[in-house]
Amino acid sequence: MTTIPAPAEAFHEVLDHRNRPNPYPCYARLAEQPVTRVDDRTWVVTRYADISRLLRDPRMSAVRRPGGGVEPEEPPARDEHGNPIGIPFLRQDPPNHDRLRRAVMDSFVPRITAMRGRVESLVDGLLESRAGAGTLDVVADLAYPLPVSVICELLGVPESDEPVFREFARVLTRSLDPVESLTEQEQRETEQQAAALREYVGGMIQHRMANPGDDLLSDLLAADEPMHVLDLGTTLGLLLIAGHETTVNLITNGVLALLRNPAALADLRADDGLAVPLVEEVLRYDPPVQMTARTTRTDVEVAGTTIPAASRVTMLLAAGNRDAGRFADPDRFWPRRPDNAHLGFGGGIHYCVGAALARAEAQVALTALANRLRNPRLVVDPPPYRRNAVLRGPERLPVAFDGLAER
Ligand code: HEM
Repeated sequence: MTTIPAPAEAFHEVLDHRNRPNPYPCYARLAEQPVTRVDDRTWVVTRYADISRLLRDPRMSAVRRPGGGVEPEEPPARDEHGNPIGIPFLRQDPPNHDRLRRAVMDSFVPRITAMRGRVESLVDGLLESRAGAGTLDVVADLAYPLPVSVICELLGVPESDEPVFREFARVLTRSLDPVESLTEQEQRETEQQAAALREYVGGMIQHRMANPGDDLLSDLLAADEPMHVLDLGTTLGLLLIAGHETTVNLITNGVLALLRNPAALADLRADDGLAVPLVEEVLRYDPPVQMTARTTRTDVEVAGTTIPAASRVTMLLAAGNRDAGRFADPDRFWPRRPDNAHLGFGGGIHYCVGAALARAEAQVALTALANRLRNPRLVVDPPPYRRNAVLRGPERLPVAFDGLAER
């Protein structure tokens, strides 16, 4: 007889690496209860409506402190107006969050729209480099290099320095995993890379101050109310780290879903326009960011349970996306799904800044792959997964194919 774990145990199962290829049955068990207390300070919320509401609730703080509470462990440095400096705005509350986010949005969003043609030619180049090989690792050959090249161009990093940025992204993304403890060696490596990134970005800022270019950093430096130099560095680092592995996972999860669902692949080949709703369905069905967390400033009631002040509340975006109370037939991958307001990019004031960019990269990559690879098929299923439970995705996704069609 198999024993069905209690909800709190089901959360530990979500975090267990053996369940990384398919955590969805564990989410379903957790979702039998809307709210679960995992330990004294940690709570898990599973339902779409509750998550959506909490993401918009000003009583939930994005400031992080190990062990709980809403104040950071060490008081941050402050500028002459008393604003904290050097903290990514993802981990800040209004008003400082809003000020920094607005500065980025003003320049970033118009630049994303202008990048689409460039994304198409980057994707073509990456596919063509594998044309004669007959196999391709979707992660290493397509999904991984694409977002780094794109973000480097947007930020103003020269092409020759892209490999350095790739290494920053690879190592620093590990520090976003709240669960897996890093080995001492990995922790040292992370700290070294964080220091190297700060130094690199410091050099970039100096260079752009003297030689403005056509990029986001130059825009931020020229703004009416320029950011403090420490905030500039942190913000560039945030855009690099927040946008990298997430986009890798979106493209890879999308290819996996397409190759497991031949009807969807055929449908995309027949109709390029399907790429738009299809990418939304990947964000719902297999989201690159599986969960996010906040800290309660006061007692907060969720589905009849009072979560005390200073608790960590983990919101399972991936479980909310499979909530049968919100989505019809939630475990079905359905690219033409109507009314697909998923939680894949979060919600409320921290809604993903790079959503338009990630969407464009995934739409272009999936369309090109469907149209150009002849007879693509998975070499292993399920593929091996990386350790991270939050930014979850395959480590490799080998695909065999019988040549590349002309564009
Ligand atoms: C498929 C790709 C992506 C996914 C699934 C994703 C997902 C998310 C989610 C769920 C959040 C909200 C986190 C929270 O509320 O705690 C978020 C915030 C954020 N994302 Fe993304 N993201 C993606 C790509 C990108 C890209 C390409 C960039 C930038 C280049 C980016 C930059 C950010 C930033 C700066 C925030 C913080 C926003 C704020 O605090 O106001 N993301 N993202």
